[in-house]
Amino acid sequence: MNKTILITGSTDGIGKLLAVKLAKEGHEIYLHGRNSEKLDSVIAEIGKVSKNENIKGFIADFSDLNEVRKMAAQVNNELQKIDVLINNAGIYKSSQTTTNDNFDIRFAVNYFSPFVLTHALLPLLKKGTASRIINLSSAAQSAVSMEVLAGEQQVSTHEAYAQSKLALTMWSIYLAENESDLNVIAVNPGSLLNTKMVREGFGQIWSSADKGTDILYDLSISEKHKDASGKYYDNDSGAFGTIHPAGTNKVAINTLIEKTKDVLNEN
Ligand SMILES: NC(=O)c1ccc[n+]([C@@H]2O[C@H](COP(=O)([O-])OP(=O)(O)OC[C@H]3O[C@@H](n4cnc5c(N)ncnc54)[C@H](OP(=O)(O)O)[C@@H]3O)[C@@H](O)[C@H]2O)c1
Repeated sequence: MNKTILITGSTDGIGKLLAVKLAKEGHEIYLHGRNSEKLDSVIAEIGKVSKNENIKGFIADFSDLNEVRKMAAQVNNELQKIDVLINNAGIYKSSQTTTNDNFDIRFAVNYFSPFVLTHALLPLLKKGTASRIINLSSAAQSAVSMEVLAGEQQVSTHEAYAQSKLALTMWSIYLAENESDLNVIAVNPGSLLNTKMVREGFGQIWSSADKGTDILYDLSISEKHKDASGKYYDNDSGAFGTIHPAGTNKVAINTLIEKTKDVLNEN
């Protein structure tokens, strides 16, 4: 059955490769990018290689939460349902480390944006069939500091990235518990895959980008993962696994969610 699928950060890397793979199967694909020229060119490219005419896109710079909210309103206006949402957009190294709202850019793009977008799209996800939300975590995870989250304290690139990824993973567990009709899965797609983020940020590659695309495809579509809500898939070990111990505690998760809502003015 053809699905309606929205993939954030699908103008490059594993998100783009996943979009190609799903488009070739005939699904209705909604891409997302921050640069309209790049987005248009990727829509045309994927349309051509997949011969799928149902490929459209949305624009939002995820370092600006007002743009994320605007995009969510557009998606709500234009789509009737979402069967799969893949929160894939992410950033590691950046020349600009703080957003206009004074947040660390890793927290804004990797955690706040998927949080805001997903919460705004829950009604559409509930109209989908056995809907899934796939959240792109990482092997890099570190205990979340409420000061760093709120933009009151600066840390290194790697520390900010790792904290933002554990925050996303903790929220994933929270969402799975609170939205029992949705299947919410967090995934480390594999470490040091050959993508722009890794080439620019780490300078060494361990695996091809396809390794990440293949697991995202399986988690998004495959029947074998239909009951995996609330779990974390670690593609370095090739199995569901455990997250950083600082992220598993219920009190810590509730504190994170309360602080996030407070910082974002979201209920
Ligand atoms: N590659 C790995 O080894 C690895 C390992 C663990 C987790 N991950 C996670 O996997 C996801 C995909 O990463 P990737 O390796 O495929 O990286 P990538 O090739 O750099 O792609 C990242 C995507 O996110 C988009 N993006 C970045 N900043 C954005 C912003 N401010 N607003 C909107 N979109 C933005 C990029 O847009 P542009 O095309 O405009 O740059 C691109 O489409 C990320 O969440 C990453 O943290 C990757």
